[in-house]
Amino acid sequence: MNIVPLFPTPIGSKVDFITSKERLQLWDRIKKIDHHPHESIIGEGYSTHRKSPKFVDKKIQDRIQSALDEYNETCGNFPSKILDIWSNIQNSGSKLKQHSHAGCDISGALYINVAEDDKLYFHNPNPYVYFTPRKDLTPYNYEYHWIPVKNCQLVLFPSWLRHGNDNVINKMDGRIVVSFNSVNK
Ligand SMILES: [Fe+2]
Repeated sequence: MNIVPLFPTPIGSKVDFITSKERLQLWDRIKKIDHHPHESIIGEGYSTHRKSPKFVDKKIQDRIQSALDEYNETCGNFPSKILDIWSNIQNSGSKLKQHSHAGCDISGALYINVAEDDKLYFHNPNPYVYFTPRKDLTPYNYEYHWIPVKNCQLVLFPSWLRHGNDNVINKMDGRIVVSFNSVNK
C-alpha cells in the first residue's frame, strides 16, 4: 500500500553554517556576557534571553536572515525577520525543559559548543498520536523525535513546535547554544 505522509513539520538544517573561526569568536564573546537563570532550563543553566546583548556580527545575522528567507519561501510562509537573539549556557546535570516560543513565527538554534552526540528533541504537534496504542515506533506515531546537532550547525523550526526534553540530562559543562526568534514582517 502507498502511504502518503500528509502534514509534515518543516525542520530546517544547515551544517557548517558558521566557520570554526566564527564559532570560536562567538564562544569567546558569550563566555564574557552575564547570563541569568531561565525558566526553560532546570539546574545549572543560564541564558541572556530578553536581555538582548549584541554579540552576533551583522554578517552572521544577515546569514541567519537569508536562511529564514529560504525556509519561509520553501514553506510558503510570509517572510519573517529576526526579533531577538540570545545565548544559553548549560552545565553538567542541567535539563532543557520541553517548551515552545510563544508569540513568534519561526525560531532557531545555532550550536556553539555541544557534545559529539548532542541532540535536539522535537515533540509531535499532532495531539491524536498520544491516544493511539502503538505496536512499533514509526514516523507516523512518534510522540517525540530527535535530530543530531553539531557545532556550527543552524536549525530552524516553527515557533509553536515544542522542543527540549524534561528527561534528558546534559552531561557536559559549558554547553552553549545561540537561540533566536523571528516574526512575520
Ligand atoms: Fe527553545
